[in-house]
Amino acid sequence: MYIAFAPLQGYTDAIYRRAHWECVGGVDEYYTPFVRIEHGEVRKKDLRDTDPERNAGVPTVPQVIASGGDEFARLCDALQGQGWSRIDLNMGCPFPMQVKAGRGSGLLLYPDRIEEIQREMLRRPEVAFSVKMRTGWESVDEGLSCMNIINAMPLVHVTLHPRLGRQQYKGMPDMEAFRRFCEACRHSMVYNGDISGIENGKLRIENWADAVDTNKIKGVMIGRGLLARPWITACAGETPAYQEEAGETPAYQVLRSMHERIYRHATETLCGDSQVLSRLYAFWEYLDIPHKQKKAIMKATTLPRYREAVAVVFKR
Ligand SMILES: Cc1cc2nc3c(=O)[nH]c(=O)nc-3n(C[C@H](O)[C@H](O)[C@H](O)COP(=O)(O)O)c2cc1C
Repeated sequence: MYIAFAPLQGYTDAIYRRAHWECVGGVDEYYTPFVRIEHGEVRKKDLRDTDPERNAGVPTVPQVIASGGDEFARLCDALQGQGWSRIDLNMGCPFPMQVKAGRGSGLLLYPDRIEEIQREMLRRPEVAFSVKMRTGWESVDEGLSCMNIINAMPLVHVTLHPRLGRQQYKGMPDMEAFRRFCEACRHSMVYNGDISGIENGKLRIENWADAVDTNKIKGVMIGRGLLARPWITACAGETPAYQEEAGETPAYQVLRSMHERIYRHATETLCGDSQVLSRLYAFWEYLDIPHKQKKAIMKATTLPRYREAVAVVFKR
């Protein structure tokens, strides 16, 4: 089963992706947070994150967010210029600023602009494209009515997070909608949304056997579940680290080694405690550790205090 690490802006930067790949692995592709155009330019900060040198050896897919063919072409030019031949298009982002600009799940309201993007993809046969989408902004019909254009795109797969954009992260993933998209889509499908463990992902796919053509489902993409338990792609099971037996459990080894890398990088490249700490808080924010320990880390306002709080986690 194909396993992808979802893009999570503010969390899964190149350093995090590399730390996960080197300390855990078991992931087929790591998606970068979206590269975007801001003030008429491709954001430099985003291009630093997709810098091939920073991602060397890590199976990475750069993602773009675009409002139409023109932006899409410029973003592809920038990434292809860096040497990429694999690009993912974001048609799912629910952030109001992006949606208002007709990007992310907002793009699903403009089939003519999706068609421009489709034509742009056809002009670039050297690139393997994929699409990551929601079921619509306000209604599942919006996504479904774009399927004929998406079917005409040259794609390696479509990742579907079966929620509407306007739902943000509320409510349950809409499995009936996922089934309908599987039927309407000619490409392989990757399921995304609320997967907390690999076993869970596998089970979910097996349970669909009656409802959908499982040959069409390539695998799963996991986001918050992997931020919470980064070890799940290496050690089977979903046990929270702190519920495991004392000692150097695989989950704690993973946390310790990932943290060492992220800590080293943050202290070597960022200036001042507050910058370093805000990068480090992101590592802990979603992690499945006891509430009290997490609170102590998030409350640490200096690096010495932070180190003390982290030492408690590892001593247990
Ligand atoms: C903080 C945050 C940042 C995100 N950034 C991106 C992004 O840059 N690109 C994208 O396609 N999805 C982004 N997502 C959506 C996730 O990739 C994923 O689709 C979503 O969290 C559902 O999967 P999950 O339940 O496994 O986390 C983001 C989600 C969160 C919570």
